[in-house]
Amino acid sequence: MRKLLCILSASAALLAACNNEQVKEEEQVHAHHGTRYANEQLTLQHNEGIAALTFPPVLQPVSRNGQHVTYALTAQKGEMTFVDGITTDTYGYNGNFLGPVLHLTKGEHVTIQLTNALDEPTTFHWHGLEVAGDATDGGPHAVIEPGVTETIDFVVKQQAATLWYHPHPMGQTAKQVYNGLAGLLYIEDDVVRDIPSDYAVNDFPIVLQDRTFVDGNIVYEDVANTSSTLGDTMMINGVVEPFLTTRNEPVRLRLLNGSNALTYYLSFSNDMPFQLLATDGGFLNEPQEMTKLTLGAGERAEILVDLTNVADVALMHDDIVVLPIETTGEAVQANYSNTLNEIALPVDVTTMEPTKHITMEGMTTNFLLNGQTYDETRIDLRQQRGVTEVWEIENIINEEGAMAHPFHIHGTQFHVISVNGEAPDASLQGLKDTVTVQPGQKVRIAVTFHEVGLYMYHCHILEHEDVGMMGQIEVYE
Ligand code: C2O
Ligand code: CU
Ligand code: CU
Repeated sequence: MRKLLCILSASAALLAACNNEQVKEEEQVHAHHGTRYANEQLTLQHNEGIAALTFPPVLQPVSRNGQHVTYALTAQKGEMTFVDGITTDTYGYNGNFLGPVLHLTKGEHVTIQLTNALDEPTTFHWHGLEVAGDATDGGPHAVIEPGVTETIDFVVKQQAATLWYHPHPMGQTAKQVYNGLAGLLYIEDDVVRDIPSDYAVNDFPIVLQDRTFVDGNIVYEDVANTSSTLGDTMMINGVVEPFLTTRNEPVRLRLLNGSNALTYYLSFSNDMPFQLLATDGGFLNEPQEMTKLTLGAGERAEILVDLTNVADVALMHDDIVVLPIETTGEAVQANYSNTLNEIALPVDVTTMEPTKHITMEGMTTNFLLNGQTYDETRIDLRQQRGVTEVWEIENIINEEGAMAHPFHIHGTQFHVISVNGEAPDASLQGLKDTVTVQPGQKVRIAVTFHEVGLYMYHCHILEHEDVGMMGQIEVYE
């Protein structure tokens, strides 16, 4: 109940009290990170660990014929009880809230039947998947009207990675994701990697989302904020304030920032180190040890956390508890290998000059890429398939101020070459499809497309995307 007070109370005194608390938190945040700006203040409350974490089901195929596999996915309306026995309307894929894990293998020919059982148009976008930039990619042009089923078809050509899927209808993405439309997409390949891979036993999907419940209901319109729709309540895999129970062993957490806007600054409550195994597009060459990890909206990270000698610990966002973890005392011996991948920059891109420049700006109302908002009749950029170009993404501080913007490109996995002219730190050394650019930063990335078509690039704060912080690139043969 405590956490509902700020939203529900009409009492001026209470509101003032809440505001004071926020100011305090904001000051701490500033002290912590230096460059954090006002509207990224934390409103998130500690996760008290009131329910056991559950895991999404793995989607079973409709049919399988050798290398050809067919799945069916329906965007539908649902109902959930999240707080205080109150039933709220939700959206989900093949269920009431969120969606199943789609488990694909490199080399497979995949057909997916997409049904829109909502009362409004939607699309099915495969975030991070390298597929043709047409209806397959599921951007805002690939609208499926209510009651309609369409079929897409592609071959999985990329390496093992944790991707995800979500809707992308123009101006409605934030609401539809907030209401529950999001799911994980795992790609496996045949490279043998000695790492935890028993689903929900030592390899856990962790879909991080923050929500603000209004009288126990999910009502996007009541909490929507163009700057950033933030929640006060932690939800993981669709469970409100969950805790994770696991054996005493090294576990793999597949983290997805599925929040509309929040950038997570993750660490553990005891500051223990963990190993970064993979970023958006797949495995690093070797695990990288770290104690803090930034995860902007849309980004993923797979981490290996050694709980062999840990009884209780919590995953934190700054000093807020995101996920309490308790161990069972049952120890499992495990040794994991150090070689995960062999990725290399495609050509000698570190000395290449950028051929594409993108500025991002906006903090309260005007969210712009290169000073413009999205126009579906305008092709902003063109690039040839198979040719690597360096893009420079700059987050401009203007009169409004600035905030972190996660920059995402459809249909490709890119390499981060530099941040403000310096080599990127370990967390940016794997393949990425989304990179969080902090205020004032210039990030250079090496981008290669392997398919052709029309793709979106945009800020992955869904509110910014919806108001047009998005552009179009045509990839030609
Ligand atoms: Cu996660 Cu344009 O998308
Ligand atoms: Cu995407
Ligand atoms: Cu943004």
